Amino acid sequence: MASMWKSVTYVVLITGLFSLTESQEDGEEIPRIGIIGAGVGGTTTAYYLRQLFGKEAVIDIFEQDRVGGRARSINIDDFEYEAGAAVLHPLNEYMVNFTNMFGLERIDASEGRIGFFGSDGMKVETSTWTAVTMAKLLWRYGYDIVKIQNWVQDSLLKNFTRIYKLQNEGIAFTTVEDMLQVMDPEFVRYTHTTIMDVMKEQGFSDIFIKEMVHAIMRNNYGQSVAIPAFVGAVSMAGAQPGLWAVKGGNKQVPEKLLKKSKANLINGKVTQILLQKDGEGVTYEVSYKNPDPESKDQEENAREYDIVVIATPLPTGQTNIKFEDFTQHLPLPDLKLHETIALFVQGYLNASYFGYENLKDMPNGIFTVDEDVFFNSVGKQRPVSFKEHLKKKDVEEEVYKVFLNRVPTEQEVRLLFSGRKDLRLINWKAYPQYSTNMELPPFVLYDRLYNVNAVEIAASALEMSAIGGRNVALLAYNHWYGHLDKIDEVSESDAPSVKQEL
Ligand SMILES: Cc1cc2nc3c(=O)[nH]c(=O)nc-3n(C[C@H](O)[C@H](O)[C@H](O)COP(=O)(O)OP(=O)(O)OC[C@H]3O[C@@H](n4cnc5c(N)ncnc54)[C@H](O)[C@@H]3O)c2cc1C
Ligand SMILES: *[C@@H]1O[C@H](CO)[C@@H](O)[C@H](O)[C@H]1NC(C)=O
Ligand SMILES: *[C@@H]1O[C@H](CO)[C@@H](O)[C@H](O)[C@H]1NC(C)=O
Ligand SMILES: *[C@@H]1O[C@H](CO)[C@@H](O)[C@H](O)[C@H]1NC(C)=O
Repeated sequence: MASMWKSVTYVVLITGLFSLTESQEDGEEIPRIGIIGAGVGGTTTAYYLRQLFGKEAVIDIFEQDRVGGRARSINIDDFEYEAGAAVLHPLNEYMVNFTNMFGLERIDASEGRIGFFGSDGMKVETSTWTAVTMAKLLWRYGYDIVKIQNWVQDSLLKNFTRIYKLQNEGIAFTTVEDMLQVMDPEFVRYTHTTIMDVMKEQGFSDIFIKEMVHAIMRNNYGQSVAIPAFVGAVSMAGAQPGLWAVKGGNKQVPEKLLKKSKANLINGKVTQILLQKDGEGVTYEVSYKNPDPESKDQEENAREYDIVVIATPLPTGQTNIKFEDFTQHLPLPDLKLHETIALFVQGYLNASYFGYENLKDMPNGIFTVDEDVFFNSVGKQRPVSFKEHLKKKDVEEEVYKVFLNRVPTEQEVRLLFSGRKDLRLINWKAYPQYSTNMELPPFVLYDRLYNVNAVEIAASALEMSAIGGRNVALLAYNHWYGHLDKIDEVSESDAPSVKQEL
């Protein structure tokens, strides 16, 4: 699939080349661009498209709901809590740099004391005192507990972060496979092998994989150690030290990116993308309507673009956006979304359910290690404003977030909480339902039609969407101006195979 797509874009580019020199000089050929979705993926794309194409380019961004998408907060008792994407890794360069660039503050987002809970009770629990924690974890999992940090930090993340240098050099990738390949060819294999098998290869013990790794996969993706190793590794990175969040809410990053990009936000639900003019100088017509089905204004509107960017997952079989008048099948990934329920409860945990006498003895975060437990995790939440809530002394009930793969029954909620003041539930179409059979899709759907969320098939995370967004911006730019040497071409010094021989 990858090679076919490369040749398609290649032909398109050659034809584009001839009209180029002229148009670039008289400055007329500046594209009109439409982006669908204003999450981190769409707004990162808008930000970099503006940088690349300059202030004259028309950039419209369609959003049917909230800017920020899966980065959003929920208000409980006058405090905001992260309801979707909550934690970031210190090596998430885009998210770190955007946060700094916008003058936002980073706050500590580590869980504090955690426990691993199974259907037969608490397996192991960390302590506020690091030495005690280490002793407990070493006792149960042996040296794996040290080895996991080294593996994630010194091998996986080291190779992963190669992408930043390449993107800063303006290099774009046609497919997710090409992108992973330059980070480390092993990463492509990791999308087709389970995290369990790869960790076994790496010499990790069964008990460590089945308990700790499994619990982390359940918490981060609602899935098991049968998840592909690449997304599994991203998930393990989300359990490393130094996790952080944006003070005031992670959604501020996409909001500021949007503002900085000076893109035109259209509050609309895109219903159709029509291939209006094919061949040389292809154009698209994007139809959209009022996202509120109750609204009186149900008229369809349409706008014309030279470049269209999809920045939202399009699950297979969904008819949300129709692709009209294309002469060939578009290479959208085969995607099923995993449903994750985020249940927010303001109240008191039922300590005895977890085998504790007193609530104050309980860890802040509880990860569950087996499928027989009806929830994936439960954690005490801190508001996005962080320390400010400590001043509000009259808050006695804590706010907890429970992740589950289905809506719990009232009985189940009562088992977990001995009392409650408030309960909210968000039903997320959260991330892909991962499998090792998934093909790594192209970012290019058709000539000048791009899919940022192809990247989610490798792994879903804020940083992945930022990387995907910048890649699409670079692809669109390199295609538009015929910079073929900047697409899928990696200089020898950057090629991973060469590096490894040195
Ligand atoms: C519960 C949960 C917890 C998570 N935890 C973390 C975490 O801790 N750390 C982390 O890094 N990641 C986490 N993630 C993953 C992360 O949220 C996503 O990978 C990331 O936010 C995806 O961004 P995006 O821009 O690609 O998509 P989205 O944020 O989903 O943005 C797509 C946007 O497109 C809009 N849209 C869709 N269709 C249309 C249409 N037809 N017309 C107009 N607009 C449309 C949607 O309304 C949406 O706003 C979590 C996700 C969930 C659900
Ligand atoms: C990543 O890089 C290191 C060297 O820095 C290498 O030893 C390792 O095998 C690489 N790949 C993976 C998948 O860890
Ligand atoms: C992030 O910022 C640092 C410091 O300014 C810079 O060196 C790095 O290249 C930036 N990363 C990306 C991906 O732009
Ligand atoms: C709490 O947990 C115990 C033990 O599982 C259970 O018997 C009880 O019904 C639960 N609920 C409350 C409100 O105590």
